[in-house]
Amino acid sequence: MLTDQTIRAALTHTLDSVDLPGLGEPMRGKVRDSFVRGKERIIVVTDRISAFDVVLGTIPFKGQVLNTMAAHWFEKTRHIAPNHLIDVPDPTVSVCTQCRTMPVEMVVRGYLTGSTSTSIWKAYEGGARVFCGHDLPDGMKKHHRLERPIITPSTKAEQGEHDESVSRQELLRRTDITEAQFDEMADYAMGLFLYGTEQAASRGLILVDTKYEFGMSPDGKIMLIDEVHTPDSSRYWYADDYQRRFEAGENPRSLDKEFVRRTLIERGYSGDGLAPELGDELRVEAAKRYAEILSVVTGVAFEGDTREPMARMSAALKL
Ligand SMILES: Nc1ncnc2c1ncn2[C@@H]1O[C@H](COP(=O)(O)OP(=O)(O)OP(=O)(O)O)[C@@H](O)[C@H]1O
Ligand SMILES: [Mg+2]
Repeated sequence: MLTDQTIRAALTHTLDSVDLPGLGEPMRGKVRDSFVRGKERIIVVTDRISAFDVVLGTIPFKGQVLNTMAAHWFEKTRHIAPNHLIDVPDPTVSVCTQCRTMPVEMVVRGYLTGSTSTSIWKAYEGGARVFCGHDLPDGMKKHHRLERPIITPSTKAEQGEHDESVSRQELLRRTDITEAQFDEMADYAMGLFLYGTEQAASRGLILVDTKYEFGMSPDGKIMLIDEVHTPDSSRYWYADDYQRRFEAGENPRSLDKEFVRRTLIERGYSGDGLAPELGDELRVEAAKRYAEILSVVTGVAFEGDTREPMARMSAALKL
């Protein structure tokens, strides 16, 4: 198991950004650094954490947890949707099929929740009874289960901008995605979400909501890319006390990034202006939660690989 001591020792040398000699300049996303090698995309999941669309700092072992968990689900869901994963040569590295990204995030939601200004809960609280084309009944409370899961597509904003939730129709109007492509992605997204919900339930968890990204492979196939059912892309709650806490008007116990979001909101930050320092206590607590969810989901205690990451990755990639 990942101990407190191991996490604290790692605070000063987390994986912040990656340079791998021989692979050229990486494309740097908020969390992943990627290198294109022929038809492959080598994705390194760093320890950076983003929330409210900004990078806030690093969390020890987060990259390993995320990469391992995504790989776990990519392997388990191949029968539902084709995906980009080819190989996982290192705990923080995935070798994938390089795709043309589809300009949408397919968000699937099972609950009326969220804390940011763009969340379905904020819209509902503000009086909206239609969200992305879906009717919502009156009288729902925060964290209420939706009658059935809904797909709420989100645009991919330029850097520094916030994504926007839109209906299928609006998305088709704004992008070059065809109806057939949208419907194929929607079918994959719903199939994945239902499977993820079942799997989570068998581990005592609720898969609350999630986002999927899709790409077009070089041979013209739509496939799932990026990450799947990780605590960065998904909300997870503990199932056992959800109902009791919901009825008492309390927040569910979550095992995802929501903990960091909520803590920052309590400190008065909601995504605009300079983000506050995370602080070591929050970083340690977040590391524990990330490790915990990987253990719960895979049933294997997460140890954490403490070897020097650059040398380890170079060796794994035979650079
Ligand atoms: N197989 C793939 N082919 C092409 N691009 C991919 C593939 N898998 C992931 N990506 C892209 O690589 C990037 C991953 O980096 P990261 O997740 O850190 O980005 P980001 O800054 O969070 O952007 P976003 O908010 O859109 O996810 C994303 O832009 C994602 O769309
Ligand atoms: Mg991303």
